[in-house]
Amino acid sequence: MQTAEAQTRDESLVWRTARIPVKHWGRGIEDIDQMHPEVQRTVEHFIATWRQRYVPLDATMAQLPEDRSLVGKGLLLFGNAGTGKTTTASAVATTIRRRFGAVVFFVPFADYVQALIDHRNWRDLYQATGDEFAREKFMALQKLLDKVLTCPLVVLDDMGKEHHTSSGFAADVFDALIRGRHRNGRPTILTSNNKPGDWDKTYNLSMQSFLTEACEVVPMAGRDHRRGA
Ligand SMILES: Nc1ncnc2c1ncn2[C@@H]1O[C@H](COP(=O)(O)OP(=O)(O)O)[C@@H](O)[C@H]1O
Ligand SMILES: [Mg+2]
Repeated sequence: MQTAEAQTRDESLVWRTARIPVKHWGRGIEDIDQMHPEVQRTVEHFIATWRQRYVPLDATMAQLPEDRSLVGKGLLLFGNAGTGKTTTASAVATTIRRRFGAVVFFVPFADYVQALIDHRNWRDLYQATGDEFAREKFMALQKLLDKVLTCPLVVLDDMGKEHHTSSGFAADVFDALIRGRHRNGRPTILTSNNKPGDWDKTYNLSMQSFLTEACEVVPMAGRDHRRGA
């Protein structure tokens, strides 16, 4: 049995709080073997230019980078299942946290969409009934949603796998989140099975064009690591 003190000193707390999938805890980009050289080059460049990408909330004019072209710019890792998207995204977040101390957060996009729906439902119930439990629920979800909006680096895993309602709710959510984060100098790492050219089908055309402004596109080609082929 660990003491509470040992637990708070343990690095696991960092990765648990960041909601990194447990199999990737503590593994930075240097711990991935067989990374495709092109992918490696792009993620190393992402990390090396972090200070040009992320602008802290209290940044002064002097702290803004001379070259603004990378401000708020993230990565879009796309490719078939098993090509290492989640592994790579987790590793980049881990290295950013270690090297720069920046708070990072990992969330499957479907969970984020569900959290928004639940938040709205619990809030409506609280407003209609004043129920304490509903209040606690919606406040906890509010904290999660705020974190995804404001955290220096967020990984949105498996975009396009969420359930799409006819209202285009997921598209609107995604649009607001990615545009808001980019506008405020907060890079986002997205992973998806969808080719960037197909994003107009899942979301919409303006989102598709904005995507390449907000993210560098990283094709994850090659063998399916999961099948071990
Ligand atoms: N570069 C790599 N070398 C070896 N195995 C890898 C590599 N990247 C990922 N894997 C393994 O392959 C499997 C699939 O990786 P994952 O990141 O989940 O793929 P995706 O998110 O693209 O579906 C996992 O078991 C992971 O540990
Ligand atoms: Mg994955």
